[in-house]
Amino acid sequence: MTRTSSFNVDPARLDGVVDEPLFKSVAEEAAKQGIPAFAIGGYVRDRLIGRPCKDIDFVVEGDGIAFAQAVAKRLKAEPVHVFKNFGTAMFMLGDVQVEFVGARKESYSRHSRKPEVEPGTIKDDQERRDFTINALAISLNAGSLGALVDPFGGILHLDQGLIRTPLDPDITFSDDPLRMLRAIRFANQLGFTIDPVTFEAIQRNAKRLEIISAERIHTELNKIILTPKPSTGFILLRESGLLQEFFPEFVELSGAEEKHGMGHKDNFYHTLQVLDNVCEKSDDLWLRWGAILHDIAKPRTKRFEPGHGWTFHGHEDKGARMVPGIFRRLKLPLDEQMKFVQKLVALHLRPIALTKEEVTDSAVRRLLFDAGDDIDALMILCRADITSKNEKKKDRYLRNYELVMQKLKDVEEKDRVRNFQPPITGEDIMRAFAIQPCKLIGDIKTVIKDAILDGDIHNDRAEAWELMKSEGAKLGLALQPGAEHPIG
Ligand code: CTP
Repeated sequence: MTRTSSFNVDPARLDGVVDEPLFKSVAEEAAKQGIPAFAIGGYVRDRLIGRPCKDIDFVVEGDGIAFAQAVAKRLKAEPVHVFKNFGTAMFMLGDVQVEFVGARKESYSRHSRKPEVEPGTIKDDQERRDFTINALAISLNAGSLGALVDPFGGILHLDQGLIRTPLDPDITFSDDPLRMLRAIRFANQLGFTIDPVTFEAIQRNAKRLEIISAERIHTELNKIILTPKPSTGFILLRESGLLQEFFPEFVELSGAEEKHGMGHKDNFYHTLQVLDNVCEKSDDLWLRWGAILHDIAKPRTKRFEPGHGWTFHGHEDKGARMVPGIFRRLKLPLDEQMKFVQKLVALHLRPIALTKEEVTDSAVRRLLFDAGDDIDALMILCRADITSKNEKKKDRYLRNYELVMQKLKDVEEKDRVRNFQPPITGEDIMRAFAIQPCKLIGDIKTVIKDAILDGDIHNDRAEAWELMKSEGAKLGLALQPGAEHPIG
């Protein structure tokens, strides 16, 4: 393995660790109780590569809960939260979360995540962890105070930028199949490579992801989506076979069919390009989900029309209708966030469609009305969706996009329809014509809204009032005496 990590791995970053109050207290308590204690896992990894980390885990060869209580007392950091089922205890030291556990020999039964646990040594504990870079420990014991405990070459792998399991990967992944997703998440977050032996084991064991809850899966998936370039992670997810297990609709986007010499683009790679483009502009997880799902219905709407070529008519509507099913299966939130993603999927073609004909104020107003406050997110997605390899086409789309942006600005300044509030309410209509709630009220409101969006009247109460009167008259409604004043 020749590749070196993009991080500068520096063991000198551990210098002085044992003089820091937390580590000092742990070392003193270890000496007092006569039981070995170690800092372990993500904190040690992150410290070596100079990445900030606010979770510090300790392992002791003894009772982790009692040890945590003693250390918290020394540091006046009580209360200690005890999780008896897991044999762990945790307290906060300022904004740092400190957790203790007794070293364990652990093996998970094949069909559940319920571990069979017995006390063990630090080595037992390290070898049952997921990756060598996550199994690094710092000794807090007399004789080796502050030394790195690295039985599996973790520091070398950190330096090489390598994700590898400490044990035979089939064992590590069968202990907890979620680790297969974690391998890809860490590779993507840190810019590391997955060791081929480990990767082949993921391919072999991908089906075992079925015993993992949707919540744990989406937590890892969202971490991949929140990296600066998630496409790398998604490509690994597909190659490993994991993606198929929890998100088959995304895998279906793969491939470019050709008929009579006419092809279409590979929508898997197109979607990833759009996703990466969005990531350059926004950290918003749900906007990123919008990118992931914007073309999700293309395989289901694909047709070849002789003489014309490939079409995907209605993929935006069908795609928006697929969103709840996908969110429900992955146990992602079904409220505001999902509605936002649905809206992005449903509207993603609208801004660019505006450029096909002459852009009318009316069409721009309708887009502003439909997108509301989400117009900026929609425009980021739309800009990201311009991925044509044909430079001329791309330039033309980009110019059109700029044109739509300018139009949106002009129209919004002029007409303020982005957060459209009807200038005449249902109450107004009921009072003006002395009628009870009924369908006619909705009809009149729609006529007024359409007239404003089409530019026939201004977004103004007095003009809307006049239109209400004439619509009422057409429907045979009598205006009540005294209901003449538009401000009333
Ligand atoms: N771990 C493991 N198997 C898992 C989850 C966690 O072996 N399925 C171990 C690893 O040693 C890991 C430590 O528990 O370093 C802490 O787990 P976690 O907090 O989830 O991960 P971190 O490595 O701290 O990384 P991050 O904070 O980015 O999630």
